[in-house]
Amino acid sequence: MNAFQDESRLRRLAQAYGTPLWLMDAQTVRQRFQSLQGFDAVRYAQKANPNLHLLRLLRGLGAKVDAVSRGEALRALSAGFLGDSAQAPLHEAAQSEIVYTADLLDRESLEFVAEAGLVVNCGSIDMLRQLSQRSPGHAVWLRLNPGFGHGHSRKTNTGGEHSKHGIWHEQLGEALAVIREGGLRLVGLHMHIGSGVDYGHLQQVCGAMVELVRQVKAAGMDLLALSAGGGLSVPYRAGEAGVDTAHYFGLWDAARREAQALLGHTLHLEIEPGRYLMAEAGCLLTEVRAVKRQGNVPFVLVDAGFNELMRPAMYGAHHGMRLLGGQGPLLPSVVAGPLCESGDVFTQGAGGEVEPRPLPAAQVGDLLLIENTGAYGASMSSNYNSRPLIAELLLDGDEERLIRRRQTVEELLALEQQ
Ligand code: LLP
Repeated sequence: MNAFQDESRLRRLAQAYGTPLWLMDAQTVRQRFQSLQGFDAVRYAQKANPNLHLLRLLRGLGAKVDAVSRGEALRALSAGFLGDSAQAPLHEAAQSEIVYTADLLDRESLEFVAEAGLVVNCGSIDMLRQLSQRSPGHAVWLRLNPGFGHGHSRKTNTGGEHSKHGIWHEQLGEALAVIREGGLRLVGLHMHIGSGVDYGHLQQVCGAMVELVRQVKAAGMDLLALSAGGGLSVPYRAGEAGVDTAHYFGLWDAARREAQALLGHTLHLEIEPGRYLMAEAGCLLTEVRAVKRQGNVPFVLVDAGFNELMRPAMYGAHHGMRLLGGQGPLLPSVVAGPLCESGDVFTQGAGGEVEPRPLPAAQVGDLLLIENTGAYGASMSSNYNSRPLIAELLLDGDEERLIRRRQTVEELLALEQQ
C-alpha cells in the first residue's frame, strides 16, 4: 500500500480531483499478477474492476480475461483482447483471450457470443442446448458445482445446493451428452466455489475436479484445460495472513498432474482471480463533512456513501480506515455516508449492526482513506440518490492518470429526457 502512504500527495489529489475519489495503484496490480505466474494463464475476473485502463494494464502483462455479460465482453474487446476463437482449432480455443462465463444466456447475449465467437463457460445445461442450436461447433467450458462451496459471506458462496451457479456435479454426464449430440466442443472444466479461500476447501475442490475429469474420460470424451476459478482471499483486517500463492498453485498443480495421468496428455491450468489482483491496489479517498454525537456515539459523516462502496452495507465487509493526520486517543466511531438511508454506514456487521471503529477524533475537512477497495468498489457503485459515479485515478510511481472522469447529473437526466 506504499502508494497511499504519502499524506501530502493524498491531500494534493483530493484538492485537484475532488472527493470522494477512487485511487488505484498500478504497481500493486503488477506485483499481484506476477505472483501467480506458476499458472499457465491468469484470467482476470473483471467484475472486480472493469475499468478499461486496468484491462489494458493487465493485457500488457499477458493476462487473459473473463466476462460475465455482453457489456464486460465489449469492454474486453475494446481493451484489445481478441474474440473470435470459439470456432478455432480446440487447442487455440483452450487458450482464448476472452471467456464468457454465465449460468444463462439472454437472447441478446446468445446472439452476441455466437457472432463474436466468444468461448463460453456454461453453468447450465440449457445454455449448452441453446448454443448448440445457434452455433454448432462452438467451444465450451463446463462450470461445475461440486456440491459444496465456501465464501466470506453467504452471498459470495457459489457452490452447494443453495447456489445457483454451475452445473450440478451429478449432471455432468447429461451435460457431456448434450455437448456430444449437439455438436459442441469441450475445452475444459471450471470450478469456482466462492470468494475467500480456505486451504481445506481448496483441497476438496481439487479432489472433486480430478473425480470429474475421471468421469469425462469414462464417458469417452476428452478435454484440454482446467480452471481453478477465482476466490483467492486478501487480508482486509490488520494481522490477517495473505494467500500463499505457491501453496495454492501447488495444490492445483497436483490435481492437474493427476488429471493428466488419467487422460494421458498435458492439461492447461488457469486461474481466474478478481479480488486478489485489485483489492489491495485501491482506496477510496473521502472528506469528513460533519461530526456529531448520537447520545454517546460519535458519528463521522463522510462524502462517500454505499452507492460508492457497497460492501459494508451488503456483506458487513470490513475495510481498514485511516484518518489523515489523525492524532490523539482513539474513539469508537461510526463512519457513515450522505445517503438518505440508515444503512449507509461503513462500519457495520453482517446483520447490519453498527460496529464502531477506533479512530482519532475527526474534524470537518479531514480526509479519511478507506482501504482495500480496489475490488468490488467502483464496479458495484450505483446512482442511488441520483449521485453520479465518481472519478477513478490510477497512480503509477510518481505519475497519476484520470482513468474515469466523474459522471454528471446531466448525463443521468439525459437518459430520461425524451
Ligand atoms: N470466477 C467466477 C466464476 C466468479 O463468479 C467470481 C466471482 C470470480 C471468478 C472472482 O472471484 P474473486 O477472485 O474476486 O473472489 N461482490 C463480492 C464478490 C462477488 C464475487 C462473485 N464472483 C464482494 O464484494 O466480495
